[in-house]
Amino acid sequence: MKKREFIKVSGLAALGLFCQTPAMKALTKNTAYALPEMADSSEAFWEEVRKGYDLPDAFINLENGYYCVQPLPVLHACERHMAALNREGAYYMRTRQLEDKKRIAEQLCSVAGCEPGTLMITRNTTEALDLVISGFPWKAGDEAVMADQDYGAMRDMFKQVAARHGIKLVSVSVPNHPKSDEELVALYEKAITPNTRLLMVSHVINITGQVLPVRKLADMAHAKGVQVMVDGAHAFAHIRFKLSDLNCDYYGCSLHKWLSAPLGAGFLYVRKDHIPELWPLMAESESVPKTDILALNHMGTIPAHIQLSIEDALGYNIKLGWERKEARLRFLQRYWTDKVRHLPDVILNTPVEEERTCAIANVGIRQYTPAALAEVLFKKYGIYTVAIDTPSVKGCRITPNVYTRLKELDVLVAAITELAKGK
Ligand SMILES: Cc1ncc(COP(=O)(O)O)c(C=O)c1O
Repeated sequence: MKKREFIKVSGLAALGLFCQTPAMKALTKNTAYALPEMADSSEAFWEEVRKGYDLPDAFINLENGYYCVQPLPVLHACERHMAALNREGAYYMRTRQLEDKKRIAEQLCSVAGCEPGTLMITRNTTEALDLVISGFPWKAGDEAVMADQDYGAMRDMFKQVAARHGIKLVSVSVPNHPKSDEELVALYEKAITPNTRLLMVSHVINITGQVLPVRKLADMAHAKGVQVMVDGAHAFAHIRFKLSDLNCDYYGCSLHKWLSAPLGAGFLYVRKDHIPELWPLMAESESVPKTDILALNHMGTIPAHIQLSIEDALGYNIKLGWERKEARLRFLQRYWTDKVRHLPDVILNTPVEEERTCAIANVGIRQYTPAALAEVLFKKYGIYTVAIDTPSVKGCRITPNVYTRLKELDVLVAAITELAKGK
């Protein structure tokens, strides 16, 4: 089979795989997006994809790790939803809002690969995971395990809970270049004691882009009676996985990151039997059974057009093709990292193994502080990145997106090469 045909067939198979529920069938039927129909992964295809974005002329955005701007079809759909809500007002909120929310949660279950009724829409990862951390049935003396490289907001919530409930926090430091999955499993395993109740693990570490072996960590933790909460902020719609394969207890992510939904969208998965064990962030009416995930999902009045746009972002990504997107993102990262990895004074803080990375990588140059590197990249070369300055990671996080051109990455490679030579 020719490469082009193979990608076409596997793309359709991928679409089929996620179209099994009635909700997904309806979704894929209704998505007439102006994406190129070319079923290959040529540069011409990606150039067409880029035309579907409104991007700044003034700089090259290599900071898609904060969030991924919406492609125009999603942005326009969001604008239409906002206008429709503004037209119908309370009528929409009182009639169709809840059924739309349930349908979209079901679509997310289908794409994420979890049982219906185990996933709720949130505003972001912070809200999703803070619900678990703060709502977990802690007892004084319990312990929680996490990593120094985990996201600050979650670590802060753990600190608050430690002060409030008298629990102990144990933190490991994940190496930037692990030799094996077993090394990582042993690292976390050593931090577990008979008092450990919950282990937090990042699916993709945000400062380096390292992908962690979540399934192996979850199996190890479960064997010791410890529940596992995964920070998937950077994983969903970036790397392909099925939640049921990860065997975790809780999974939170932000949909304004790699799904390119509008800002303020995320989800939380909770294993069915844990739903009644958690305390919600905002109390729900007693008329909602404690076994229903909606009992955890009271949000007050929200910008419902954001939630409605999740459906459009899902449709866009399905048309783009999950596998094709992941392959492109990994290719873009390797395109530049392979050219600078071996240069003197250049430090790659991201593993080289394909299965441990995707779009995100972190690079430092010995002579530059992270802040100075970010500044010179922006001021001299017009490249926008973010400086990461932690004890274990010193460099700039570089995050391309599907619209990134190879020639933009060539500018980055030339900049790193020049700066490392002291020019
Ligand atoms: C690993 C990780 N977790 C959680 C978050 C928080 O995401 P949000 O601000 O969308 O809640 C981020 C944000 O960048 C992140 O990188």
